[in-house]
Amino acid sequence: MLIQYLNYLYNSHNLHSVHSPFVYDFNKHVLNAKNEVVEFDAINGYRNELTQDVSILKIDTLGAGSKRKIIDKIAVKAFYNLTCTNHSFGSILYRIIQYYNYNNIIELGTGMGIGTSYMLQALKNKTKTSIYSIEGSEVLFNFTRSQLNKHFSGHNVQLIKGNFDLVLPDILASMPSIDLAFVDGNHSYEATLDYFKMLLAKTNNNSVIIFDDINWSKPMQTVWKEIIQFPEVTCSIDLFRWGLVFFRKEMKKEHFTIRFNGFLKAHIS
Ligand SMILES: C[S@@+](CC[C@H](N)C(=O)[O-])C[C@H]1O[C@@H](n2cnc3c(N)ncnc32)[C@H](O)[C@@H]1O
Repeated sequence: MLIQYLNYLYNSHNLHSVHSPFVYDFNKHVLNAKNEVVEFDAINGYRNELTQDVSILKIDTLGAGSKRKIIDKIAVKAFYNLTCTNHSFGSILYRIIQYYNYNNIIELGTGMGIGTSYMLQALKNKTKTSIYSIEGSEVLFNFTRSQLNKHFSGHNVQLIKGNFDLVLPDILASMPSIDLAFVDGNHSYEATLDYFKMLLAKTNNNSVIIFDDINWSKPMQTVWKEIIQFPEVTCSIDLFRWGLVFFRKEMKKEHFTIRFNGFLKAHIS
């Protein structure tokens, strides 16, 4: 991982060396925009509670494609530290939804709902939005459902319990199209490619699909390289931890490796 990260640092560009107007804009308004701290008060409150919670969860993890050891019993705070999206990446979710006015969103892998909470905060004052988040662990699903209801009362996220492989086709069939998909679970080559193909069929010209952990294993690196070769993908952005693909037909196909330091940042803002 260290070698890959050094490689990324060597190959990545900063704002001033990017020539694509779309990516320049993305860099300025999504990656490097400043947040209003108050927007994240509720999320920070939820995070703070998780970091202090020593109660034990018996996780019935699906674990497929996971290099992390299958967890049986784990403290809430330890699971949070192991799996949850940090603030730098969570802020990307928040800002990308606001900047591109995304309304139809799906997340594969709710976990403790941290990524979900940035997305639901971004959609807070909007109507006519739909946000689905899927979690296969029953224990986590129940835990997170009650936490989100407690910290973000009135939120409109539809939490779905089930294996992605089984529930994704029906959810996608019920959505007109997808503006943003966040694929954050089951990091195997086959599963990631399958989910990409299913999601691709529901994209529109402005959509983005975000993959977590593209450099986490050889199979994930391989599948990322294959995904960005799909003819429908006209713009891809490598942030080392995340890979983002866009489908804007007006763009000439191009790949970008952008310098973003969020990989090393702490969980809380
Ligand atoms: C890294 S965590 C998600 C973190 C969360 N998105 C966040 O932003 O904090 C991945 C989650 O995906 C779930 N998962 C893994 N494989 C799955 C599958 N095949 N179907 C459903 N859920 C799955 C795991 O139970 C785990 O809770």
